[in-house]
Amino acid sequence: MNLPTRTLGTTGPRTAAVGLGCMGMSALYGESDRAESVATVHAALDAGVTLLDTGDFYAMGHNEMLIGEALRSAPAAARANALTSVKFGALRDPDGGWSGYDGRPQAVRNFVAYSLQRLGVDHIDVYRIARLDPDVPIEETVGAIAELVEKGHVRHIGLSEVGAETIRRAAATAPISDLQIEYSLISRGIEDTILPTTRELGIGITAYGVLSRGLISGHYTRDRQLTPGDFRSFSPRFQGENLDHNLDLVEQLRKIAEQKGVSVAQIAIAWVLSRGDDIVPLIGARSRTRLTEALGALDVTLDDTELAAIEAAVPAGAAAGERYPAAQMAHLDSER
Ligand SMILES: NC(=O)c1ccc[n+]([C@@H]2O[C@H](COP(=O)([O-])OP(=O)(O)OC[C@H]3O[C@@H](n4cnc5c(N)ncnc54)[C@H](OP(=O)(O)O)[C@@H]3O)[C@@H](O)[C@H]2O)c1
Repeated sequence: MNLPTRTLGTTGPRTAAVGLGCMGMSALYGESDRAESVATVHAALDAGVTLLDTGDFYAMGHNEMLIGEALRSAPAAARANALTSVKFGALRDPDGGWSGYDGRPQAVRNFVAYSLQRLGVDHIDVYRIARLDPDVPIEETVGAIAELVEKGHVRHIGLSEVGAETIRRAAATAPISDLQIEYSLISRGIEDTILPTTRELGIGITAYGVLSRGLISGHYTRDRQLTPGDFRSFSPRFQGENLDHNLDLVEQLRKIAEQKGVSVAQIAIAWVLSRGDDIVPLIGARSRTRLTEALGALDVTLDDTELAAIEAAVPAGAAAGERYPAAQMAHLDSER
């Protein structure tokens, strides 16, 4: 299948207009099915998706090994088109705990050496620290990745969840392909200063949480049973009255989707796609069924009247609850 394409910034790779976010296949959204996960990666590549996003800390290497397995067993042509986007820097422990970030140059070199092995590739297409390490200037972390680019271990440098000042400092150090950051109908914080900054500097956006982790997918219900460790069991937007309020917003979206003959998830993804050619939404599908639905968004065009109706149904700032618990919000340079 031929999918529309977009380029990640002025220096980044050309990719299908949506990427596949693989995190949920290993972590944070409860049980997942390994065979179905691999089949979903294969189906995505077969459909023309190219960008596969992961983090070395998603279940401590599990997600990279899963992608490695999927790449090894994919047809050679699909494997050749695949682009890997890897986040590093988060420190874990054997019990799954989190203990900060490490962006020191020697840590960057260490992280990438392991990622290349787990993925079974000879280079990573886009490499980025997941969160700014407050103890290491961004110039040092980005400078270390730039050396990996020179050596051929990495092709492009990305950023994740950082604010305008850090973006400028990073871009002054080396070419940056894209900023990975949450962006959806109910997470529009980047519109004020971050998006104008990336546009000024020719940096693309890989948008995550376009379905707000399933909340605005149209499939999430109040009685959903969550397993321990599921992000949604502690995310403010999924709790009590916040959840009630946010699901009411989804019902407003559902009316628009039904009128158009598409699904709520497709409206939410199509809205992000409509915000500019510099934005590539990452789809967090964990099954082929969800993937098919998400890819259907590429056929959904929203005209001005429909966009206005969507904006009226879910105005900027309409969501109840922050996008992360307070302790995790504190790690977001993008929220300062
Ligand atoms: N840079 C960062 O800080 C950061 C943070 C988080 C994520 N990410 C990356 O961004 C990717 C996407 O984020 P996300 O997984 O939170 O995104 P998302 O697309 O907002 O949420 C994915 C969840 O939505 C539900 N869903 C319902 N219908 C769907 C459909 N048609 N297609 C896809 N999902 C559907 C699924 O939950 P069920 O399967 O439970 O139904 C799925 O697990 C991640 O995989 C990761 O690679 C980056």
